[in-house]
Amino acid sequence: MTPSVRKLSGHVGAEITGVDLEAIDDARFDSVRDALFAHGVVVIRDQTLTPEGHVRLAERFGPVDVNRFIAAVDGHPKIAAVFTPADANEVIGGSWHTDHSYDPAPAMASILVARELPPYGGDTLFASQTAALRGLSPGLREVLEGLWAWHSDESFDGYALAGIDDSDIRGAVRHPVVIAHPQTGEPALYVNDGFTVRFDGWSAEDSAPLLSHLYAQATRPEISCRVQWAPGSVVIWDNRLVQHFATADYQGHARLMHRVTIEGQALQPAVGAA
Ligand code: SIN
Repeated sequence: MTPSVRKLSGHVGAEITGVDLEAIDDARFDSVRDALFAHGVVVIRDQTLTPEGHVRLAERFGPVDVNRFIAAVDGHPKIAAVFTPADANEVIGGSWHTDHSYDPAPAMASILVARELPPYGGDTLFASQTAALRGLSPGLREVLEGLWAWHSDESFDGYALAGIDDSDIRGAVRHPVVIAHPQTGEPALYVNDGFTVRFDGWSAEDSAPLLSHLYAQATRPEISCRVQWAPGSVVIWDNRLVQHFATADYQGHARLMHRVTIEGQALQPAVGAA
């Protein structure tokens, strides 16, 4: 089997065929990683990935970054159970966000495996943050290149689904607003509605109008793709290249996804990207 890569939309996402993630060799793994860096998100269908295989795949990219807010799957401490019970009024990840942007070295990527799906809905949306940046006027990009923003895990405070222990909340960390992708150097916008609280040196009130503008630009349909899940679907996304959104439109049905998140590194500003 030779891997083949088909774009899902103009700016983000690709579907890869011709790989078996449970027993992937080095050459095919390199193809998957290259496609991830090129497209931000890769979708691989019809897989039979065991929990052990899921962790093994993640560890090909790097060490696992265990999420401190989402309960682990029984017997698999490195896998987060992204679970929505049938009677829930909220879902994990039900707004545009970037996994772990509240950490000093935010997660590089996340690998989500469908385990139990509702009969309809529950799609995941992804938006390209490199395209978001390219869509801004050069003058605004130049301003943003000089800015840093604070990201906080405080939105997890009192979060009903995951049984949060408040002692897990660590407060805010600072990242550049325009980052250079650590592997490719590609500049990307790095603020998100889930966790960004204000620009460095600006009050929350002063930050709000520009942040709202950026969130709107960063999640436009034209720079997004929508992944419809099916049994056997595995999706890998690069958290430095995309934001994502879990759609809460399947009330009355349960949904269980297994997520493994991979360690990243401190983010550096992109210089001269405007
Ligand atoms: C997440 O935000 O990581 C979960 C996405 C999903 O459940 O579709």
